[in-house]
Amino acid sequence: MMNFENGFFTINTKHTTYAFHVIETGHLEHLYYGPTTDLESIKAHVTVPQWEPGNTALYSQNSGTHRSLESTALEASFIGKSDIREPLIEAICADGSTTLDFVYKDYEITDGMKELRALPNAHDGSKTLTITLEDKNHGLTLELYYTVFYETDCIARSLKLINTSSDTVRVERLMSILLDFDRVGFSTTNFVGGWAKEMNRTVTPVKSGAVVHSSFTGTSSSRCNPLFFVHDENASEEAGLVYGFNLMYSGNHYHSVSTTIYGQTRVVSGINPTNFAWILAANDEIEAPWQIMTVSDVGFRNASLNFHHFVRNHISPKKWSYKKRPVLLNSWEANYFDINEEKLLEQAAIAKDLGIELFVMDDGWFGHRNDDTSSLGDWFVNKEKLPNGLEGLSEKMAALGIGFGVWVEPEMICVDSELYKAHPDWAIAIPGMEHSEARNQRMLDLCNPAVRDYIVEAMTKVFSAKGVTYIKWDMNRILTDYYSPYLDSAHQQEVSHRYVLGLYEVLDNLTKAFPELLIEGCSAGGNRFDLGVLCYYPQIWGSDNTDAVCRMTIQDGYTYGYPQTTYTNHVSVCPNHQTGRTVSLETRYAVASMGNLGYELNLTQASDEEKTIIEREIMEYKNQQELLLFGDLTRSSSDSENISWSISNSDKSKVITMDASIKDEKASLTIKVTY
Ligand code: GLA
Repeated sequence: MMNFENGFFTINTKHTTYAFHVIETGHLEHLYYGPTTDLESIKAHVTVPQWEPGNTALYSQNSGTHRSLESTALEASFIGKSDIREPLIEAICADGSTTLDFVYKDYEITDGMKELRALPNAHDGSKTLTITLEDKNHGLTLELYYTVFYETDCIARSLKLINTSSDTVRVERLMSILLDFDRVGFSTTNFVGGWAKEMNRTVTPVKSGAVVHSSFTGTSSSRCNPLFFVHDENASEEAGLVYGFNLMYSGNHYHSVSTTIYGQTRVVSGINPTNFAWILAANDEIEAPWQIMTVSDVGFRNASLNFHHFVRNHISPKKWSYKKRPVLLNSWEANYFDINEEKLLEQAAIAKDLGIELFVMDDGWFGHRNDDTSSLGDWFVNKEKLPNGLEGLSEKMAALGIGFGVWVEPEMICVDSELYKAHPDWAIAIPGMEHSEARNQRMLDLCNPAVRDYIVEAMTKVFSAKGVTYIKWDMNRILTDYYSPYLDSAHQQEVSHRYVLGLYEVLDNLTKAFPELLIEGCSAGGNRFDLGVLCYYPQIWGSDNTDAVCRMTIQDGYTYGYPQTTYTNHVSVCPNHQTGRTVSLETRYAVASMGNLGYELNLTQASDEEKTIIEREIMEYKNQQELLLFGDLTRSSSDSENISWSISNSDKSKVITMDASIKDEKASLTIKVTY
């Protein structure tokens, strides 16, 4: 699985090999990443530089070779010392210099995954290779981690920068990976979008310079998901070399794929360096989020399946990986903020009769929230709407025979709230400056430990209400006006990363305290859909757009990196609230059934015919739920007009296919069983 032989490191998954070695200067030359190969073939990639072209710089006159780091494929690279390409890490040292020179010191192979302290880790990793590098100039230490997930053909890479010097260092860039290829001719596939338009697949040939994708919303974002691929220009579902990458991080991220005229390609990926800096005092350390990588020489389908298996077996909380989720009715589009106990129970009673298993009360149940102008932070029941409280309502739901779930948005505060009156300094805002408002709410300052404690305490009260079995954890605004009233001026560039670390701490505490609770993430739909949060909750509301035709593209995007257990899809009313489009219930159900199925419409207004169809579809879904959720989902076609997904069991004897035509605005299901 992992080998160190004559200076060569080889890392093997079931079908892939990754290899590098220590060169004469002490740097790590990247040799190979691809289908399984042997050491002899790997050695063929070793370079022995004979001359340095034109005005390239030599690493050192004294290294005994004509080595320029600019023309060497590397595992790690920094500013200065002859490589002028994009660096892995940037730091300003006490003397003002930015030239770092990390060289090999030693290595260690340990069982399992190397656990990062403050960032999420995958579970059940096979082995970890740790390479320790030492900076020749300032005495810093860098540990590079490579964890193998053998069966799923994934490798996770991360690193830790340790300030082993006696001076404070200002870290200005912290990527998780740098990966060099000795070839060009790649394209990169990314998933870009915005609110209600998540996960649009774009393919960009990397012809010259850098192709950069990033997020700066404070979250992993609907603008650009952290998932991306680097691949042969003509790679298809079944053919071509495809490298897949996904950063386990829920904040601002960045990745770039760049080429040089000398036929090299460099991939870097990690925390977005824009408005990021970290003050690293002597003896302090900072970790980079895990980057998950896979490679397939038979196209995208296989790379996506590797990611699906990886997420199911190593990211999703174990309890939920292979557990069926209840078919639910969400109250939002049927009621918006206008809810009360009587109305909700009336809708829940019909839902129960149609086979729905869980009723989710969305926004509007707390403080004096009748629209989006108030009350976030005031997590106590509005007694006018729910005179018997959460428990009274959940008891009545239980009497109807339906489960009960509640919506919360714990990371937010409205200026019009009791919480803001008591703690105005708990909001992210720059004192004395006008704030950029979004949905009349501000983000709580998760850099502040008192704020994190408050969220855990407030949510503990909601989560422990008897009968609540499901929580929808929403997060509806983006980070602007970067400023933490809790931090001093020197640490303000740490805000976005500290926010994400604070979020992970809160989620960790709450999910450990409530392991039985099914939590569904949401961020104005898919504005925080990533492997970081998926370590804490197993499913996410992938988009506020419930139009089945739009969902074909959105869900197709998710299939590239995430298994169908991770996204929830709702059948909603027509004309659709976001687009005004009308399509058949059959089409709405066919698309929504390819994941966690829910409904989001006012059942008291549904006709008898509609109810009969819904009841039949729910029964059909439950009959096939095991296969629909845990089978292997593959794309048979996904172009701008047609989308076709198939979900099959392990021996492929049973296959459910969803065929959709975007042009005709239609989708249907077929089930094929081979005996
Ligand atoms: C966000 C969510 C919706 C709904 C509303 C409630 O927009 O994405 O599903 O929960 O908030 O305010």
